[in-house]
This record gives sequence, structure tokens and C-alpha cells, in this order.
Amino acid sequence: MAENETSNGPLKIEDRGTHVLASLDRPEKRNAIDQELVDALHALCAELEAAPRALVLRGEGGTFAAGADIAQLRERRAADARAGINTRAFQRINALPMPVIAVLDGYALGGGAELAYAADIRVGTPTLKIGNPETGLGIIAAAGATWRLRELVGEPLAAEILLAGRVLDAEEALRAGLITHLEPDADAALVRAEKIASRIASLDPAATQASKRVLQAPRDAHPAIDLAEQAILFESPEKMRRMTEFLERKKAK
Ligand code: COA
Repeated sequence: MAENETSNGPLKIEDRGTHVLASLDRPEKRNAIDQELVDALHALCAELEAAPRALVLRGEGGTFAAGADIAQLRERRAADARAGINTRAFQRINALPMPVIAVLDGYALGGGAELAYAADIRVGTPTLKIGNPETGLGIIAAAGATWRLRELVGEPLAAEILLAGRVLDAEEALRAGLITHLEPDADAALVRAEKIASRIASLDPAATQASKRVLQAPRDAHPAIDLAEQAILFESPEKMRRMTEFLERKKAK
């Protein structure tokens, strides 16, 4: 294991300086999301809430995640459904202060797709297969797909994915805007995601975090939330520094 790498059971975590790289690491089960993985995701969120940095999320073994762990899911009952085991973990990931970038290689199905929908930015590879086969297992996609997917791709396509079990390939996901980059393979997709993360690290973190909060705010919160966030930033020394630097660079030319 590399010096900057820690393993929290099924989640491998690497400190990459500008960002954190987390890899779902249950390849023998196609990275199916079980309780241990959910717990590890919560622990990672706690760290990133305390010390905000962008997160790059990927899966080991040519798969992002083939869903919630069906062996555990089968045993869960009504109270477990109401507890929203995956829903709460994915909400917490979605609400992280800094952006989350998902690298989608291979299967991103069911809960795996919902984890991908919870990211802010998605990058894919040609082997991607993304969709929600939950109704085939006698359940609904209750960990974010019903609202997030509609926002991401619009109701017509979300309806076909959720009601008819349509699974998108990489080209279809790109056309739908579900991924914003399609790279030739997993290594290239990771490079792309890390480039995005290091670009984010060069921007003002307070402005990035404010942008994320405003972007996620409900429609009726606008424009009040935009103005409130901007009012804070207009007083920030970093805004003054960055704008002065820009103006002086121009003058020096
Ligand atoms: N939950 C639990 N175990 C899973 C899993 C899941 N969601 N997805 C895969 N696995 C396990 C398999 O049971 C198998 O375990 P085993 O080796 O102990 O038998 C192992 O992972 C490998 O899966 P396998 O089906 O042999 O791999 P494959 O490459 O032929 O197929 C998939 C990959 C993703 C197409 C197939 O595993 C699949 O359909 N998984 C379920 C997808 C799904 O319905 N997800 C929604 C859940 S909410």
C-alpha cells in the first residue's frame, strides 16, 4: 500500500494532495455496496466535511458498482427501508462542501448508479453500463434516482430508465449529459477526473463551495441565496486578492 493510501475495508483512500481519491474495493462482488461500504463512505464524508477537498470516486476491477448488495438487500425489511441506509450515505456525499467527481467504468447499476448520480461531475469509459434495474428485483430505486436522474437527464429518459429498466451505454450516457467526458479507458478517465480536481483546487475554495450550495438550492431559494452567498464573498480578502492580481497582471502587459 502506498504511503498516502489508507484502506477502510472495502474503500481504499488516497491523499492526492489537491483532492482525495476513493476507490470502491470489492471487485469480487463487482463493488456491490454493502453496510461496511456505506459505513466507510460515512467515515470518508466526516473527514471531507471537517477538511473540505474535492473527491474523486472510482471502482476497482473494471466496475464502478453493480448496485446495493443484493444479499443484504434481500434481508432488509420496512424499518430498514425507512432508515434510508444508502439514501443517507449518498445524500451526504452529494452535500459534501467541495465537488465530487465519479469515474464510471463498467457497471454502474442500481445503487451504484445512484451513487454516481450523487456526484457533481461524471466521467465515463466505453465499457460503461448505467441504469436502474431495481423494479426487476421487486423494489424501487429509492436512493436518489427518482429525483436526481430526472434533474440530470430529464423526465422522458429518466422514465424509461426507471420504469422500463433501460440501461444506457457510454455513448448514450454522453448524449444524455449524464457523463460530460467519455475517455478511451479507465486510466484516461481517472487522469481526466484528476485534472478536473486539480483545476478545482486552483480556484477559490470559498467561491467553489458557495457555487455548489447555490447550484443545489431549490428553485424557490433563488435569487435570494445567490445574493446572500455573493454578499459574503464580496467582503472576502481572497476576492480582493484574486481580482487585484488579475488587474495588475493586465497593467503589467
Ligand atoms: N449484490 C450482491 N452481489 C453482487 C451484486 C450485487 N448487486 N452484483 C454482483 N454481485 C456478485 C455476484 O453475486 C457474484 O458473486 P459470486 O462470485 O459469489 O457468485 C460476483 O459479484 C460476480 O458477479 P457476476 O454476476 O458473476 O459477474 P458478471 O461480470 O457476470 O456480471 C453484473 C456483472 C453486474 C451484470 C451482474 O453481477 C449483475 O447483474 N449484478 C446485479 C445488478 C443489479 O441488479 N443491481 C441492482 C441492485 S440494487
